[in-house]
Amino acid sequence: MPRIRMEVDGATYEDDVEPRLLLVHYLRERLGKVGTPVGCDTSNCGACTVLMDGMSVKSCSVLAVQADGQDVTTVEGLGVEPSTPGGTHPMQRAFHEEHALQCGYCTPGMIMASLDLLRENPDPSEDEVREGLEGNLCRCTGYQNIVKAVRRAASEMREPGRQEVTP
Ligand code: FES
Ligand code: FES
Repeated sequence: MPRIRMEVDGATYEDDVEPRLLLVHYLRERLGKVGTPVGCDTSNCGACTVLMDGMSVKSCSVLAVQADGQDVTTVEGLGVEPSTPGGTHPMQRAFHEEHALQCGYCTPGMIMASLDLLRENPDPSEDEVREGLEGNLCRCTGYQNIVKAVRRAASEMREPGRQEVTP
């Protein structure tokens, strides 16, 4: 069995894994990172999205061995870094404050995909948010409040302390 080593949410893990083990199953079943859900069998929903070296990936479509040597961040790794001393990342806060979730199943993936979106475009328009998140599906919200949340977080992350005024 191949041996892999990766950083996940700031800690280093080293394990022997089956070559066919998916990253999402490694995260959930071996590391207990159950904050990353599995929403489909088809790589469509985006619920399992994590960051791998800062870029969003659907962890159900990546093998654990492909993440060997990489730096993986799940939703559980947000809000613990020194830059977010309150323990809540601006994106998490914005989703909460804009009521951008109902059942919450899509939320971890939405948050992680949104962070990748802002990495590439720190000030996205509504249309750009919708386009950037088109790989992430939500069955509950109708997306409107998700778009508001991402733009609110973007504003706060550009200028800490300032928030986008949304209609
Ligand atoms: S569980 Fe990964 S895309 Fe649906
Ligand atoms: S909040 Fe239920 S799927 Fe998005």
